[in-house]
Amino acid sequence: MQNRSSKQNNTTRRSFLKTSGVAAAGLSWMSTSAAKAAKTETLALNGGKKAVTSGRGASKWPLYGKDEIEAVTKLVTSPSYAPLAGLESDWRKHFGVDYCKSHCNGTGALTSMFFALNLPPGSEIMVPSYTFFATITPMRLFGLVPVFVDINPQTLNFDLEDAKKRLTKNTKAVLPVHWIGLPCEMDKICDWAEEKGLIVLEDSCHAHGAKLKDRYMGSWGRMGVFSFQQSKPLPGIEGGMGVYKEKDDYDCATAFGHYSKCEGKYKKYNGSGLATKLRMHPLAAALLRSQLPKLEARNEAGARQVRKLNDRLLQLPGLLEQTYNRPDMKRLHYSWNMLFIDEKKAGINRETAVKALQAEGVSTSNFSYRLQHKCPIYSEARWWHHKPVIPELPGSEKANQWALPLPYFTSDQPELCDEYVNAFEKVWAHRDKLS
Ligand SMILES: Cc1ncc(COP(=O)(O)O)c(C=O)c1O
Repeated sequence: MQNRSSKQNNTTRRSFLKTSGVAAAGLSWMSTSAAKAAKTETLALNGGKKAVTSGRGASKWPLYGKDEIEAVTKLVTSPSYAPLAGLESDWRKHFGVDYCKSHCNGTGALTSMFFALNLPPGSEIMVPSYTFFATITPMRLFGLVPVFVDINPQTLNFDLEDAKKRLTKNTKAVLPVHWIGLPCEMDKICDWAEEKGLIVLEDSCHAHGAKLKDRYMGSWGRMGVFSFQQSKPLPGIEGGMGVYKEKDDYDCATAFGHYSKCEGKYKKYNGSGLATKLRMHPLAAALLRSQLPKLEARNEAGARQVRKLNDRLLQLPGLLEQTYNRPDMKRLHYSWNMLFIDEKKAGINRETAVKALQAEGVSTSNFSYRLQHKCPIYSEARWWHHKPVIPELPGSEKANQWALPLPYFTSDQPELCDEYVNAFEKVWAHRDKLS
């Protein structure tokens, strides 16, 4: 049981955290009354009361309701493929793009994109290792070879300076990934790519509605792809979209997986197609048409929710968040609220902090994302036109050493935010002993 004075301490700390700004009026956190109060509480690890007790359903996703049920019911009652053309039309209008094609998933959209590149076998594409396999392995099918590029460990995004060092005479394209909704600096990447004669592609599978310089991610490169898999910012349970600047890319990508929709110089392939079938399920399209009008408001509400928590947590020494400083960047959040722990500044190592935070009821872990360049497939020459170079990627390693992921709360959670702050403060107040 929490005693009375510890309850009072919590109230004092909460009001401090609510009223104090990001810079905490220049005070070092340890000298604040909040820190002193936190020190008097017993850690859950040592038998004290858990700080986090609410929050069931706070990360619920997807958020489907009446509209989605109605759309799906209508289609089941009267089955048709009409939602596909409807979704593509909605997408073009919403994102202001000329050409887009719905596919069965993001992997299908990526595969079609690599096909549409029509590059000679042995061409190389620069891509982060810190990504989902589908950004890379479909390259194989067309004799393309990845050049693994490091990420910046605080943005988890494509490190342009590292890419510059890895350029070879075979490099033909770059493929940045906007990781969990944080836009890559596409203006800088595009400038460099233009200088070097490289094609710019985008994996926007996490970035539906994110912008840089008021321009949507996915519309910077010659081609871009989106995923609508269940966890994604725009969920269709499964599905994908390819976005194309050039009509010929659109025609080619379409002919690859849509045997009856071939257009332009590929029209003659209607009936045979060129390879495979990657059509989206119309039920996914129906769900997505209901979700798309809600996307921007949801992204903004999610970003506000994250600020409410992070602006308070980042007052603690040694805690950082996944971001960079550009006022012309508009991010969204997806899946995780990714924090990092600088062990030296925090005065506690990640493993110990995670153990103590978990005991307080915080959902976190010693998170490590699987790095693609370490997967066996890239070391085996038989799968590739030529064997990819397996580099040292210190930024990607660092990302896995200092990540401290929190859940992304998909609804307003004032009470839960208080509890999370309370948990972190308790642990930070006792970190000298824990370490
Ligand atoms: C960065 C990235 N690219 C591509 C994909 C592939 O999308 P899908 O799962 O729809 O095939 C994913 C899916 O998780 C992803 O995270």
